[in-house]
Amino acid sequence: VDIHVRLEGRDDLSGQVYRQVREAIVDGRLRPGQSLPPTREFARSLEVSRNTVSIAYERLTGEGFLRTRVGAGTYVCEHRYTTAAGRPRRRRPEQGLQPHTRWDMAHPRWDAVGRRLPPPALTYDFAVGLPDLSLFPFDTWRRMVSRELRTTSIESAAYGDAAGHPGLRTAIARHIGAARGVITDPDLVTVTNGAQQAFDLAARALLQPGDCVAVEEPGYPPPRMLMRSLGMRVVPVRVDAQGLVVAELPGDARLVYVTPAHQFPLGMPMSLARRRELLAWAAEHDAAVIEDDYDSEFRFAGRSPETLYSLDGHGRVLYVSTFSKTMLPAIRLGYLVAPPSVTPALRLAKYVADWTSPLISQAALARFIDEGLFARHIRKMRGEYSSRHELIMTILAQQEDWVRPIKTAAGIHLTALLPAGRQLSDQDVRRLTDDTGVTVNSLWQFYDGKPAQSGLVIGYGAIAVPHIAEGLKRLRYVLEGA
Ligand SMILES: Cc1ncc(COP(=O)(O)O)c(C=O)c1O
Repeated sequence: VDIHVRLEGRDDLSGQVYRQVREAIVDGRLRPGQSLPPTREFARSLEVSRNTVSIAYERLTGEGFLRTRVGAGTYVCEHRYTTAAGRPRRRRPEQGLQPHTRWDMAHPRWDAVGRRLPPPALTYDFAVGLPDLSLFPFDTWRRMVSRELRTTSIESAAYGDAAGHPGLRTAIARHIGAARGVITDPDLVTVTNGAQQAFDLAARALLQPGDCVAVEEPGYPPPRMLMRSLGMRVVPVRVDAQGLVVAELPGDARLVYVTPAHQFPLGMPMSLARRRELLAWAAEHDAAVIEDDYDSEFRFAGRSPETLYSLDGHGRVLYVSTFSKTMLPAIRLGYLVAPPSVTPALRLAKYVADWTSPLISQAALARFIDEGLFARHIRKMRGEYSSRHELIMTILAQQEDWVRPIKTAAGIHLTALLPAGRQLSDQDVRRLTDDTGVTVNSLWQFYDGKPAQSGLVIGYGAIAVPHIAEGLKRLRYVLEGA
């Protein structure tokens, strides 16, 4: 391995090399078994004599840090001072730069957001937002990716178009055209790193700091955190049984973020009347609408409502979706379909953000969709999620004295409301479910302001049918016993 050594002056050069290599071994930057550069090479790179390095190596060897074997060179030994895990130790925090965030990083409700690493291996995992990772066709996916790693696939190894891999954009346009009735040209599709980056690009292309952004209350926290971090004024707007209450939108909102297919987290779809009202409002107020269609591929019953994108006659809607639910969250691919008037600005925003999303995964995903494997996986998962959804609804429907589930027909989570007056914060849920093997989210977590109602947001992406009844029983036991 290469070792960075900083030499000062011309005094005690051997001592300087000795101390810095020793420090690198002790603090874990160099691990037992790693080999050090040969003395001649190291001396040349440091512009010192070979003897200087040899003396330092000999001293370290004498102290048991290094060993030299003929033919194998010099390498680091196990030593009582080496860290077994080889994990570099953090230095003490220093005074220096302080973050200047425009949002409150200590907000308790953001505690659980963005920290699902690694996913807890729980038996009764009702955490929201996770698909079933265990049913993903990893072998097939590996084949798709390895094909892109051949020299014949040289294009996916270079820099690509900021808009995304052309084959993937075409595959996306075909998929959403058929499955969601979002009829579009691949030239209007931009591939992003998950839905979250699509929101970021929309803000960069359409907004100025200080602009007003309206979001659903309760709603999905990451977009509002993002908008605040960019200096936008975020106004939460109430949702009722029909979805976002358009009549309560602030008149100066430049952007409205909604989840019409499956309101996050409550679960009901936005009514057709409300959709039309929102589109008319946006046209009248010269505002943009982000339609986050994050999990609508998993629809179990009834006709899906028309998307805002297809109902829109005024070029106001940015349609966003993700492969985090249909494939894997770790794939970090999503997409954005925008009106032609803003597409060039979005492409420029993507270019300055990170140029393009990883091309190897894009090319593999294009092939996965084109070969019909994506549709097959969705069909399989829809069947699975549908059984889980039905079972949870059936069990909870018999327990209306305790919770009242909101009727939903799509997605991988549902919300069950608790009786009025019952307080249940995120901390309460965590405290009560600790040691029960159950994970679940409190509805409170998704409010920006004061929570208007208490409830549980029950994800079923990560819990298999055989565990559901017992998981709900435990949940009731700990929460009712509270
Ligand atoms: C409402 C909503 N939108 C989007 C996403 C997906 O975001 P991403 O594609 O950034 O993983 C999620 C995931 O939990 C979500 O709940």
